[in-house]
Amino acid sequence: MSRPEMTHRHHILITGASSGIGAALAEYYARPGVHLTLWGRSEERLEKTASTARTKGASVDVLSIDLTKADNALKALTRTDESLPVDILILSAGMADIRPHKALAESAEVALKMSMVNFATPVAMATEMANRMAARRHGRIALMGSVASFHDLPLATVYSGSKAGLGRFSTALQAAMTPYNVRVCLIAPGFIDTPMSQRLDGEQAFLVPVDKAARKIARSINQGRGVLVFPWVFQLTRLLEMALPRPIAHRILRKLDVMQHPESEMGGN
Ligand SMILES: NC(=O)c1ccc[n+]([C@@H]2O[C@H](COP(=O)([O-])OP(=O)(O)OC[C@H]3O[C@@H](n4cnc5c(N)ncnc54)[C@H](OP(=O)(O)O)[C@@H]3O)[C@@H](O)[C@H]2O)c1
Repeated sequence: MSRPEMTHRHHILITGASSGIGAALAEYYARPGVHLTLWGRSEERLEKTASTARTKGASVDVLSIDLTKADNALKALTRTDESLPVDILILSAGMADIRPHKALAESAEVALKMSMVNFATPVAMATEMANRMAARRHGRIALMGSVASFHDLPLATVYSGSKAGLGRFSTALQAAMTPYNVRVCLIAPGFIDTPMSQRLDGEQAFLVPVDKAARKIARSINQGRGVLVFPWVFQLTRLLEMALPRPIAHRILRKLDVMQHPESEMGGN
């Protein structure tokens, strides 16, 4: 579908825009002259984000899509970029799952699904978009990692592993793309107050309100910064784990005990 009237609109595609950080970023960027393409699974919550963005003057398209299906995501991305070139791609969608109570590790089924949503699909989308943006010598790509990637978390082996892989991919892509004026930004947040963190039982140290997090993330993307870790205290925990002998670090990390409520118990935001 061609949209000649929108050719000089600033086009921002956000995955995970139906909730939490992605929805807050959509709201942050929404203004006249901006076209937002918002992806998520829940049509109802996507529409909620879209209607807030429209009130602020942005034009908006929404797409309900499941990112466990990477081929569908790539087709949709190509279609969207050919219709109106994407200036900023923000890959915020993600899932967090910790091992069930008393289980030794997550199930293989969860491991596969989380690897697709947190790693394989965003990596494929970022690669496709990087090639397209490099040809245009223009663009920004932001990937949502986590400070969980800095630690060997026994109760979230797949989450921390998928985010660690995403983190290395981001900085490697950044090294490849900088000469072509494509900025790749890795965002590694601590606890942000969203439905994802609200599913966890127990205290969440240095919890950041979601609108504050969105402002910080957007500023980083706009500056073309390579890596954003926040709150800064998690740089210290990262250094601490690196400094400790691994068996001692693992003994400490094995003591972490967090419970997570199933998504179905929480409802949408
Ligand atoms: N909140 C934190 O404390 C925190 C900390 C560090 C990193 N992060 C990362 O930040 C990102 C955003 O998290 P959040 O806190 O905003 O979580 P959230 O409120 O739970 O939102 C997650 C988003 O991802 C989408 N999503 C999940 N599975 C999907 C799938 N299979 N296909 C398509 N979309 C899917 C959800 O869509 P639907 O809701 O429509 O299903 C939702 O829009 C994630 O990558 C997360 O790992 C969060």
